[in-house]
Amino acid sequence: MIVCMDPQINKYLLINEAKLGLTIAYPDSIKNIIGVNMAEVNGTVHKRVRGILLSLIGPAAHRDRLVLKMDKCMRSFLHNWAGKTIDIQQKARQMAFMGSLEQIVQDEPNSFYESFEDLFVKMFSGSMSPLINIPGTKYYQGLKARVKLNALLEELLAKRKASSVTHDDFLEQLIRNSDSNYNSSDEEIIEQIITILYAGYESVSSTAMMSVKYLHDNPRALQAIREEHFALQQNKRPEELTNWNDYKKMSFTRAVIFETLRLANVVNGLTRRTTSDLELNGIIIPKGWKIYLYKRETNLDPFFYQEPLTFNPWRWLEKGSESQNYNMLYGAGGRECPGKELSISRISLFLHHFVTKYRWEEVEGNKLQFYPRVIAPEGLHIRVSEY
Ligand code: HEM
Repeated sequence: MIVCMDPQINKYLLINEAKLGLTIAYPDSIKNIIGVNMAEVNGTVHKRVRGILLSLIGPAAHRDRLVLKMDKCMRSFLHNWAGKTIDIQQKARQMAFMGSLEQIVQDEPNSFYESFEDLFVKMFSGSMSPLINIPGTKYYQGLKARVKLNALLEELLAKRKASSVTHDDFLEQLIRNSDSNYNSSDEEIIEQIITILYAGYESVSSTAMMSVKYLHDNPRALQAIREEHFALQQNKRPEELTNWNDYKKMSFTRAVIFETLRLANVVNGLTRRTTSDLELNGIIIPKGWKIYLYKRETNLDPFFYQEPLTFNPWRWLEKGSESQNYNMLYGAGGRECPGKELSISRISLFLHHFVTKYRWEEVEGNKLQFYPRVIAPEGLHIRVSEY
């Protein structure tokens, strides 16, 4: 494997991926558990699968429906936390998972969501574990959980197809799509559902958790984000849902999310494989080799970001900062994250309710780990009170 830490070359590789004959190359543990979808497809199949995904979560759907629905979901999720000590890592994971699942499948009994969550967490943990397929290992349990998830989803698909009742969710759209231009099989629909849940799980939850952490440690930023959200609430009745226009006004919140992603990077690098010998700056990378486009250090490079270790969301309010060549927080080129806006709006709405409803204090003794994943190994415990 070649490891490349030069942001210019990395950007060039991502933008010209198809032309250079690069294909996606996720680790086998992810590929085997998550399936053939985004983790394996290239070329025209990739374009088609990506098209289906964008029809669900792209800008149009986002503007017309998703923000309102997510706001409704966050209101009930963040209800009644005052007076409690909670693990914000666990809450953020629940928020990321249930937020996605309720968009995908609505109107099912609680038992469905609970069994789904239990299996999903096992599957996720298996995909992050060493590839040892013997009973008792996390990888083994992850594979088993994936088989059970398939069975659960196959049953649900059959039930939906046999029923004339309509539902306002992604599954309904995926079934309708399968009858029309996209022509997806049941297997593909299931892969799509798993992809949305998987890709938006740890990425969203760890960013939400870390933004709470950074806001706690930086009172001036906390004050600024509260002002932004109280100003939005001033023009609305309490029961009125936050809409797309409100979301577009959350510019400081967006900056907090970018700054959190920069400092606590959830995606260290991206992996590609060459399909023919590739010459880069006079060096030949042989056919079949992997290239690891390592981007973590770029985010902390003083050449690009002044005082790179300081949490300074204001830097993202400068014009053009998000579109700088060295910013690859959401990837670049034909595989740039299709869930980018969805993830930003989900975390923004979470923060909207969290900072306006509550104050919080960290409980002593929390530990954080930044590499290889951003996690609090024993949880991030906070004491919450009414604002
Ligand atoms: C803070 C949250 C997120 C971050 C930082 C993030 C980051 C990324 C990055 C860096 C890539 C590029 C991968 C590559 O080129 O190999 C990517 C791809 C992808 N992301 Fe996200 N993501 C986030 C949230 C989401 C969400 C919520 C969804 C789901 C709806 C999602 C769905 C995807 C998919 C399907 C791909 C593969 C795209 C393709 O291969 O065409 N992501 N993401």
